[in-house]
Amino acid sequence: MESENPSNLLETRDLKKYFLVRKSLNPFSRSGRRYVKAVDGVTISIPRGKTVAIVGESGCGKTTLARTVAQLTPPTSGDIIFDGKQIGYGKTSLREIYKNIQIVFQDPDSSLDPKRTIEDTVGEPVRGLLGGGRRAVEERVARSLAAVGLSGEQGRRLPRQLSGGQKQRVAIARAIAPSPKLLILDEPTSALDASVQAQILRLLIELQTNFGLSYMLITHNIAVAQYLSDIVAVMYAGHVVEYGPTKRVLAAPRHPYTVTLMSAAPIANPWKRNLLNVEIKGEVPSSINPPPGCRFNPRCPYAEDVCTKVDPPLEEVIPGQFVACHFKEKTAGVFSGGTATTPPATKAA
Ligand SMILES: Nc1ncnc2c1ncn2[C@@H]1O[C@H](COP(=O)(O)OP(=O)(O)OP(=O)(O)O)[C@@H](O)[C@H]1O
Ligand code: SF4
Ligand SMILES: [Mg+2]
Repeated sequence: MESENPSNLLETRDLKKYFLVRKSLNPFSRSGRRYVKAVDGVTISIPRGKTVAIVGESGCGKTTLARTVAQLTPPTSGDIIFDGKQIGYGKTSLREIYKNIQIVFQDPDSSLDPKRTIEDTVGEPVRGLLGGGRRAVEERVARSLAAVGLSGEQGRRLPRQLSGGQKQRVAIARAIAPSPKLLILDEPTSALDASVQAQILRLLIELQTNFGLSYMLITHNIAVAQYLSDIVAVMYAGHVVEYGPTKRVLAAPRHPYTVTLMSAAPIANPWKRNLLNVEIKGEVPSSINPPPGCRFNPRCPYAEDVCTKVDPPLEEVIPGQFVACHFKEKTAGVFSGGTATTPPATKAA
């Protein structure tokens, strides 16, 4: 399967990832099988050189979506089209995929080997994916370290000899070292102080401009999504419920879930607009037995009878903005404003 839109670097089509969990201890019992529907039919696109933010409550499937796209776990069904071609197990070698798709995780402490020097760590994907002589690897490592603002002397240190912000720079240097086209950033700044976070966000913008990178950015922080992303996808219980240009979706959301998130997030300091702090009335849906119909119906102030029976499709409300709701006309103009455009003051990372 090929992409119909060459301006997209990545497309997912009806992508699903279910995890098998057992109710019964008998491994052969079919009745004891249950599935966690972590990602349940996600269709999104990441245009070349752009950033798509994935936002939503804890457990809605953001990391699973990222891991499935990066082929760290096989999809249950659906398609992933990268650079015009379908990728996946048996279709593309993992080596080819990792040359082009790299992930940066939230916590550099758990992703960096404490016993290896920074240079060694950054050189690892270069040696493994691109090969080349020692000198070529060293040159690439030096370029990557310089691109993230680290010196050659810092490259010879161990992770424990660096600050949290510097360690995240190392994780980014390692990710860009093989010259990928797509970086998946899973909460890349949430383990950092607010001021260090701002520096890393600026670095990510600089790298995107310099290297033409595309980003899939996972974040709980609305201001981070606003600052860094061009497009936002709002996830709820394994589904994308709203998708469109970030400025538009966050300033004038149309899905009742996005409206609730944006109305509930504190606006005094937009950089503290963290979805983790948002409490929405009603129970978070079970990912094993999600409610029938629209998954948001038990918590939705606009729900009507049809919402408990029919799952609404994602439909375009205005050009580029898509919403999965039977009553999307009810939310027009309900929320507007409260945007954050610049990160807070900085200190050295
Ligand atoms: N390997 C696994 N086996 C079984 N269930 C899993 C597995 N990985 C994730 N899940 C479940 O899938 C759902 C989505 O998890 P995921 O980690 O993708 O959420 P998330 O949106 O990234 O959450 P957070 O914001 O807390 O990081 C959760 O119910 C989680 O418990
Ligand atoms: S479909 Fe119904 S329950 Fe779901 S978000 Fe829309 S109004 Fe609410
Ligand atoms: Mg996660």
